[in-house]
Amino acid sequence: MNLKYRKTVIAGNWKMNNNLTATKEFADAIKPKLGRHKWCDVVLCVPYVNIPGAVKAFKDAHLAIGAENCHYEDHGAFTGEVTADMLRDVGARYVILGHSERRQYYNETDFAVNKKIKAALNVGLKTIVCVGESLEQREYGVTEELIAYQVKAALTGLDDSAMRHVIIAYEPIWAIGTGKTATAEQAGEVCAHIRFTVRKMYGARVARALTIQYGGSMNAKNAAELLAQPDIDGGLIGGASLKPDDFAAIIAAANQ
Ligand code: PGA
Repeated sequence: MNLKYRKTVIAGNWKMNNNLTATKEFADAIKPKLGRHKWCDVVLCVPYVNIPGAVKAFKDAHLAIGAENCHYEDHGAFTGEVTADMLRDVGARYVILGHSERRQYYNETDFAVNKKIKAALNVGLKTIVCVGESLEQREYGVTEELIAYQVKAALTGLDDSAMRHVIIAYEPIWAIGTGKTATAEQAGEVCAHIRFTVRKMYGARVARALTIQYGGSMNAKNAAELLAQPDIDGGLIGGASLKPDDFAAIIAAANQ
């Protein structure tokens, strides 16, 4: 973290978990534990249908609600899809885009991710853009090239001012939901490379102000060590964000 230049952001990614009742129970359980967490922003990204309920449940807390995906068009015949404007309209403030599960199971391309980022920024949503390599790619030694490619493809066409609303989440695919965390050094190295890539595209000022999260089996035990890396400015947390005690502990780790 480097609080002098950029925000720390802790974001939960609930994926396809928790119905509305569970969402309300989670809110009741975590709110007393949230504290003032003045050093970081806290976000909870929940399934589309629970966004209005989550916004209501957290209205008196310093916690913003986000979505986990959106479509890139602003209307049209796309059965089952949701626009960025619809998300904003029901109270979402953030959206996760390009998560590896969407790339893997729904064939989301870098080109589509780039269009989604533009659509989301256009309506004033902050975007959490995910990049990350598979185990095979890491073993082939192409992690840095691949991550640089994903970052460039995702950000193509965005200007400096749009970059103020972009967060990049480095999520090695082999660490997601597996209990295998990247070591703090491994994660810190790739996050530094992301910042280097953004510096080449936008210059030092934009790169310095960019929040870069780590995601992949981050939990209450390893959060402090990961967040101590100078280029890791927060976390995108799946499994541990479903447990109020663990999520609160990660937020506390970001406030030390
Ligand atoms: P995990 O998920 O924390 O359960 O590994 C992270 C993510 O997919 O964003």
